[in-house]
Amino acid sequence: MPDASSVLLQRLQAAFDLIVPGADPVLRASDRADFQSNGALALGKQLGRPPRQVADDVVAAASLGDICALVEVSGPGFINLTLSDAFVAGQVAALSADERLGVAKVESPQTVVIDYSSPNVAKEMHVGHLRSTLIGDALARILDHLGHRVLRENHIGDWGTPFGMLIEHLIDEGGSADANSFSVRDLNDFYAQARQIFDTDPSFAERCRRRVVLLQNGDAETLGLWEIFVAESLRHIKEVYEMLGVLLTDDDVVGESFYNPLLPVVVDELGAQGLLVEDEGALCVFPAGFVNRQGDPLPLIVRKSDQGYGYPATDLACIRDRTGRRGATAVVYVVGAEQALHFRLVFAVAALAGYLPDPSTAVHVGFGLVLGSDGKKLASRSGGSDRLIDLLAESVDRAKDKMSERPSELSPERQAEVAKALGLGAVKYADLSTERARDYVFDWDRMLAVEGDTGPYLQYAHARVRSIFRRGEVSPPVPGGVPGLGEPAERALAMQILGFPAAVEEAALTYSPSKLCTYLFDLASTFSTFYESCRVLVEDEAVRTARLGLADLTARVLEQGLSLLGIEAPDQM
Ligand code: ARG
Repeated sequence: MPDASSVLLQRLQAAFDLIVPGADPVLRASDRADFQSNGALALGKQLGRPPRQVADDVVAAASLGDICALVEVSGPGFINLTLSDAFVAGQVAALSADERLGVAKVESPQTVVIDYSSPNVAKEMHVGHLRSTLIGDALARILDHLGHRVLRENHIGDWGTPFGMLIEHLIDEGGSADANSFSVRDLNDFYAQARQIFDTDPSFAERCRRRVVLLQNGDAETLGLWEIFVAESLRHIKEVYEMLGVLLTDDDVVGESFYNPLLPVVVDELGAQGLLVEDEGALCVFPAGFVNRQGDPLPLIVRKSDQGYGYPATDLACIRDRTGRRGATAVVYVVGAEQALHFRLVFAVAALAGYLPDPSTAVHVGFGLVLGSDGKKLASRSGGSDRLIDLLAESVDRAKDKMSERPSELSPERQAEVAKALGLGAVKYADLSTERARDYVFDWDRMLAVEGDTGPYLQYAHARVRSIFRRGEVSPPVPGGVPGLGEPAERALAMQILGFPAAVEEAALTYSPSKLCTYLFDLASTFSTFYESCRVLVEDEAVRTARLGLADLTARVLEQGLSLLGIEAPDQM
């Protein structure tokens, strides 16, 4: 089902094409009318004609009679377009009859690898892993819903120098590959202890370095010890994912260790293509256009002077694997903005090496920090632990406390489930609704508030709509019924509902779940205005059915939209 704006765009495009083929109508939603087309301005300039005249020509040529009630040229040459109620009503009926609520599947689906969450093992997940996990998961859901083939990959940091340290400390503590495994609670401390010895005891540090070499060379005993850490970490990571309700499973884990055997292959391939330059014993690629502050060329270090491989080499092998073995046409990295330069370099070198063959693309979906109330990067909360699982549990507890302040008709079990949905919804929405490039302050009171742009506000809005049906003892009308749009608030709600497909597409196109959040918040606000000015359960049957239809659609869009964000929408709170 083509949505209202694309029908309009098509008609305008045809008229613009008559003047200059392919000219952009520049169509936008508008406050004055429903939409405004500003394309005549640029076109007038291009043709050296008064833009108003061009706009008049467009209006005369466009066939808009069956969809617009009013078309006006204003100002320097804007075209203001107001859809007819009949057209809007027809669009709403079509959206309502569609299970997908108007969200079409893409014509040419891509195979998209989404790299997200990617914690480093041997340390518990902390708040620093929150954004990647939530944004990545929302994108996985949205792209999947649009019909893309989504391959989730959890690029866990399960390889490299820290393991030399951990394994040596394990041996010193009398551990062995067949000893009882650790619990990760111990492992956080264990890591800190190992780190401390490493920093103060040079002979320990030296043993650690040798152990890393053993690990990289696949020494059997060393690998056995390494597996203890990885297995225990994965158990813990899984616990966090289950609590969060994200899609990631064990099957999505493709850790750094996976690429180890491929690293020499990458070096050979880069060498064969003449891309490698030796610089003080290290093998580097200097992609064109990258310079440091002093203006010197910037290298991607593929192999270090000690023959070891680091993060850049692994990411080259990784991109090669994704576009090759996994057949990805798009590779999306949901990783903090501080790694922007790393990814730009890796993508540039990957392109040179042929690891990004046409038409495949790589995108770094970066994001800002989670800050504490002191405005600094949130590492551990004042007085609290920095374990992500504790943070989530606390959110659920706080939601439970808030719920208990008011009477509830729900059973205690159901109340606990709803508290979980609210507590997690609060944390998720606070994160996802922040434009991803920006930092945000982690603030319980703000994110759990039932008023304002919060998860609980949207969840309550959804439940409130559902409650109309419970209280009125009516079932939602048959989807597809045509709503009456006599009242401005009815029409405004209808128009807002019609914006759902565009909001989902926009979120996907810009890899920004926040766009969908903004849309849903506006929908809930528009509904609340509608509900204040239009009684729903009125005598007049036609009006009642129409309003119930709009209410039901609002709830369906909220539920669908929240589910694309990984947020539950209980029917009753
Ligand atoms: N483990 C890395 C970190 O904590 C993130 C990995 C992101 N993915 C990648 N392919 N580099 O910084």
